Amino acid sequence: MVRRHAWSAEVGGRSRSFYHSPMHDHVAFILRRATSEDASALRIILLDTFDSTWRPNITDAAASAFLREDRPRTYVGDRGLHFWVIEVAGETIGFVDWEGDFVNALHVRSTHSRLGVGRRLMDHAEAEIARAGYSSVRLETDTFNSRSQAFYAARGYQEADRYPDQEWRSGLTTILLVKPLVNDGSSPAETGASPLDRTGSLLSQG
Ligand SMILES: CC(C)(COP(=O)(O)OP(=O)(O)OC[C@H]1O[C@@H](n2cnc3c(N)ncnc32)[C@H](O)[C@@H]1OP(=O)(O)O)[C@@H](O)C(=O)NCCC(=O)NCCS
Repeated sequence: MVRRHAWSAEVGGRSRSFYHSPMHDHVAFILRRATSEDASALRIILLDTFDSTWRPNITDAAASAFLREDRPRTYVGDRGLHFWVIEVAGETIGFVDWEGDFVNALHVRSTHSRLGVGRRLMDHAEAEIARAGYSSVRLETDTFNSRSQAFYAARGYQEADRYPDQEWRSGLTTILLVKPLVNDGSSPAETGASPLDRTGSLLSQG
């Protein structure tokens, strides 16, 4: 018997994708656009990833400013309705945000790490970016963030540049990562094309 792992449906007038994880059979994911009802869950995700990922690597002053200014609330207020989220058991536990060919943010709650949530969010973002006509996708991460670098390397991203971080005022270094896309919305890994084949054109896309 062929087991079905993904399907889409209209729910409440909105398109949603449903997944069963073959590795984690008890986990069912829903991928959908964020709504205003996600605002507090999205803020909690950002506070969680801040604690687990950025807090240990930035100055106390930078951490205090982040929390004092409640930057997660501002970001979610400004951009939240553009996010795509994944929901598990009624709880919003991860999101991706992109504009044009640039992925602004990808965050998965630490309680749900390594379940394939980040992968599903990026699969969707890359497919939509390709569908919008871009031939590559760009994003930034920090040199200290070995987990995200492993995650993006596994998806075929390559370093295109590195420069001093402007956001945290903590002496960090930002890495620009780039990955070529193919026009039908699937990634080169899915079609067997080598990311290296297209490096020249992707770097010129800026
Ligand atoms: C980076 C992040 C998005 C990964 O999300 P995730 O849902 O845990 O990742 P997935 O389960 O989809 O992992 C997919 C693949 O990426 C790689 N990967 C993910 N986490 C990894 C880790 N800690 N170490 C090594 N490889 C890793 C693996 O190849 C993994 O496949 P596998 O589990 O079958 O081996 C998540 O850890 C996160 O939100 N971190 C904090 C915020 C952040 O750093 N965002 C990105 C940079 S701005």
